[in-house]
Amino acid sequence: METESIVIRHARIIDPSRQLDRVGDILLGNGEIVAAGRLGLDRIPEGARVIDGTGLVVAPGFIDLHCHLREPGFEYKETIAAGAKAAAKGGFTTLCAMPNTDPPIDNAAMVEFIHQKARKESAVRILPIGCVTKGRKGHELSEMEELATAGVAAFSDDGDPVYDANLMKLALTYSSDLGLVISNHCQERSLSCNGVMAEGPVATHLGLDGIPAAAEEAMIARDIALAEATGGRLHVAHLSTVGSVPLVREAKDRGLLVTAEVCPHHLTVTDQWVLGAKGAASVAAGGLAYDTSTKVYPPLRAQSDVEALIVGLADGVIDCIATDHAPHDLTSKQVTYQEAAFGISVLETALGSMLQLVHSSKLSMAAMIDRLTVGPANVLGEKYADLASLQPGTPADIVIFDPDQEWTVDTSEFASKGKNTPLEGTTLKGRVVATIVAGNLVYEGPGLKIQEARGRT
Ligand code: NCD
Repeated sequence: METESIVIRHARIIDPSRQLDRVGDILLGNGEIVAAGRLGLDRIPEGARVIDGTGLVVAPGFIDLHCHLREPGFEYKETIAAGAKAAAKGGFTTLCAMPNTDPPIDNAAMVEFIHQKARKESAVRILPIGCVTKGRKGHELSEMEELATAGVAAFSDDGDPVYDANLMKLALTYSSDLGLVISNHCQERSLSCNGVMAEGPVATHLGLDGIPAAAEEAMIARDIALAEATGGRLHVAHLSTVGSVPLVREAKDRGLLVTAEVCPHHLTVTDQWVLGAKGAASVAAGGLAYDTSTKVYPPLRAQSDVEALIVGLADGVIDCIATDHAPHDLTSKQVTYQEAAFGISVLETALGSMLQLVHSSKLSMAAMIDRLTVGPANVLGEKYADLASLQPGTPADIVIFDPDQEWTVDTSEFASKGKNTPLEGTTLKGRVVATIVAGNLVYEGPGLKIQEARGRT
């Protein structure tokens, strides 16, 4: 489809795929990047829409390796249409959709269903992830080759681990032939048992069953051993503990094909928030209060875990930031902590949360963008590299954001159906101003300044 020309002027252009970080202009036409740099006025086509990028950052659109769009089966929690709108608001131009739907995405027809829905209802790119095991039941491998041919971007039984070590070993063996990662939700259930939050003083205070760090680390260690035995491509989903980081680091040092992701909430929120006062004085909420919007798998953990994950992300041991956007209906959270569903609605707050790390100098702006673009694209494989670049000739998938614009999280304004976030009412610094997919302006946010259809000013 032919799209209009758009030029973004005087913006800070950050393209980690080319180590580019400079103030300049970027021209889009026919759905592609035409030029990025300092453009002479004569390069701006007659009739182009001109966006004033002064004070704004322009980067490749974010790629989310891990989100739950709930369709088919759980449309009361989220739909592809609503999730895609939330993604565009959050600056994401590509979403990898987890297959824990009903029915699960474990055959070619289901993959085609997602593709068709996405074509009709989504302004962002949707890449389905296929199940590792049939029905996500953990007993028998899915037809992985059929799924790969149908176009899945990865495999996962997320929400559940691949329990059976021999099945995981087989899946990893096939992953190298198919060139697609196995993203495993690492949770040793014989250790996590009925746990609903991180093991530690807060869980003890509330009398809630805790999930030990070893539940995650034991399965990561198993999977790394299996990746080593098979030469397979292991991706560790949602890393959350201080002890998981060296496991991944050592596996990479040994040259194994192991990658990892971390979620915004595990980088910015601790288990203190379970008490319901957004991490403030722990007693403020009283001994028996808690906030079920903090219930997520893996659980929010201690400050020492948060700090180790930030260091791991900054130095590149953790390849990327993934949202694990897990929207739920209200009633799934308006119950006791034990009964509440695991999951946080993240797409619309991810950038603001991640910029907290940039504003506090724990992560550079370029590294943050790298972990939201090049990092996830590399996990998916060479085929997706163009989605994470501002190189002329690549698809015009772009985010424009104001790193300093402050806003208060108000879930009634979320495009996502999932209003389940502990960040409700908090102020974030940094907001998406516009999102462009294949040259189309798919989201226009507060602070966008467009000079209509006339280039030469
Ligand atoms: C996920 C969901 O709701 O699908 N929830 C979550 O807390 N991350 C699945 C899961 O990983 O348990």
